[in-house]
Amino acid sequence: MTTALITGATAGIGRSFARRLAAEGHDLVLVARTTERLTELAGILRERHGIEVEVLTADLAAEADRRRVAERLRDEAEPVDLLVNNAGFTQPEGFLAQDADQLRAQLDVNVTAVLELSHAALNSMLPRNRGAVINVSSVAGFFPGRGSTYTADKSWVTMFTEGLAQTTANSAVRVLVLCPGFTRTEFHDRAGIDMGGIPGPLYLDADRVVNDCLRDLREGRVLSVPSLPYKVITTLAGLLPRALVRRLATRVNARDN
Ligand SMILES: NC(=O)c1ccc[n+]([C@@H]2O[C@H](COP(=O)([O-])OP(=O)(O)OC[C@H]3O[C@@H](n4cnc5c(N)ncnc54)[C@H](OP(=O)(O)O)[C@@H]3O)[C@@H](O)[C@H]2O)c1
Repeated sequence: MTTALITGATAGIGRSFARRLAAEGHDLVLVARTTERLTELAGILRERHGIEVEVLTADLAAEADRRRVAERLRDEAEPVDLLVNNAGFTQPEGFLAQDADQLRAQLDVNVTAVLELSHAALNSMLPRNRGAVINVSSVAGFFPGRGSTYTADKSWVTMFTEGLAQTTANSAVRVLVLCPGFTRTEFHDRAGIDMGGIPGPLYLDADRVVNDCLRDLREGRVLSVPSLPYKVITTLAGLLPRALVRRLATRVNARDN
């Protein structure tokens, strides 16, 4: 029996991770801000799969809350074997129109939490020579942003995690960065982004994203990009001249905003 800690477990991709890992028999620590949704999900998963589920309410934009989650990851009496840094959000406005405090909160959830929780988890896992960290980034991290700092956040998560993989390479500890494309979750509604211009077939199902990610983790991959179209898009982003990548990104952003 192993224990997985998932941030952003109340909705979307994080909730899919929780359901899938529970079905595989893992005990869970569920982290997000909304206690009611966490408690409800924990009850369902305990009853359905007979596993242990802890609820850890935390706002990852708040330093004290991030510290509590990091402490849970360092708890040697109840070790965490899989960390899924999944919580994240974006905002609808361009950079200059955003409130600076909100931009900092976004950076803290999307980046600082990933940094601090990965640090706590790996310092616990490497001495045990056991465990894995999945950081949820995005295809968006391969392209310059839509005015908000979101794509820069995700670019950081991807590069950071690929670097971590070198740190853990000589151990049994695994590190993977998951880069989904557009996925049907609460993400865009929460941000107030009209997605009317995005063709339906480009949307991924959250359960499929999680399935592909866990398969890639088992196969020892470091980068997981679910679905062929997004594999092609991310490969092209690395091959094309940057000026062309910026032009393509501007076209998508214009439809997206
Ligand atoms: N959906 C997409 O198209 C897409 C594509 C690529 C990558 N991603 C990435 O996938 C990850 C999951 O997103 P999703 O699409 O599943 O979004 P979602 O449905 O909006 O879920 C976001 C989750 O993050 C939690 N969260 C948000 N702010 C938080 C905070 N300050 N502290 C703690 N938890 C917080 C939310 O819970 P509470 O509100 O209860 O706190 C919720 O559980 C994100 O990192 C996102 O950037 C999404």
